[in-house]
Amino acid sequence: MPVDEKPAAGQPTTERVKGIFTNIAPSYDLFNILSSFGIDRLWRRSTVRLARPDHKSVMLDLAAGTGDLTMAFARLGKPASILSTDFVPEMLEVGKKKAAAYDGPTKIEFEVVDAQDLPFDDAKFDIVTIAFGVRNLPDRAANFREVQRVLKPGGRYVILEFTTPPSPFVRWFYHMYLRVVIPNLGGLLTGDKPSFQYLNDSIRAFPTQLALGAELHAAGFSRVNWHNLTFGIVAVHIAEV
Ligand SMILES: C[S@@+](CC[C@H](N)C(=O)[O-])C[C@H]1O[C@@H](n2cnc3c(N)ncnc32)[C@H](O)[C@@H]1O
Repeated sequence: MPVDEKPAAGQPTTERVKGIFTNIAPSYDLFNILSSFGIDRLWRRSTVRLARPDHKSVMLDLAAGTGDLTMAFARLGKPASILSTDFVPEMLEVGKKKAAAYDGPTKIEFEVVDAQDLPFDDAKFDIVTIAFGVRNLPDRAANFREVQRVLKPGGRYVILEFTTPPSPFVRWFYHMYLRVVIPNLGGLLTGDKPSFQYLNDSIRAFPTQLALGAELHAAGFSRVNWHNLTFGIVAVHIAEV
């Protein structure tokens, strides 16, 4: 894209997304807790339950940010290992501190990785996860191809993401909250209101649960299904290879 051409509202570009998360890394966790009233913890717990890891599972967490989903899996799911990855090192640094305080059985490692171009051998992982990350990828098709390649046969891609509440009433409140509260709260905590305006727009521009399910299916995943959480504000999609 020419440098003088601005991406559309809610449209992710690598530069835009890297810039936003580098900037908000120190206050990301606080923003998460305040903006979701702590409900994000319950969403991560549900994601672990739905992903069904066991003590032999080899896992990859993409766009892992400050590691909250990685740590929820380590504490509750106790897989054999989790590789926690993100393309913003400043976000992963926060996650490394959380992992340093963990003394459970799961081996946790960190690596700077772009979720659209995975530097791993074929058929390496049992479960790949991504929480609130897939919405920020400019090329979802590349991510879906790469995830299918690195999953073992029968492996699962587990996606936790903001979606579209089916009830018009809930949707109206939710969209008002996104439009009014998110940019102002984010701006207050980080001084970067436009980034939070983008996050709001990106949530509204993201496909519905049904459309994302169809996209996964068209990309070659099988047994695609999803579970709405908190009135469908977020959903967990599970797709198998
Ligand atoms: C909203 S945060 C979510 C972090 C974490 N998964 C969570 O649940 O709190 C989105 C993360 O996606 C990362 N991200 C966005 N695009 C990426 C890409 N192409 N490759 C790797 N990470 C990416 C950002 O750096 C950021 O840390």
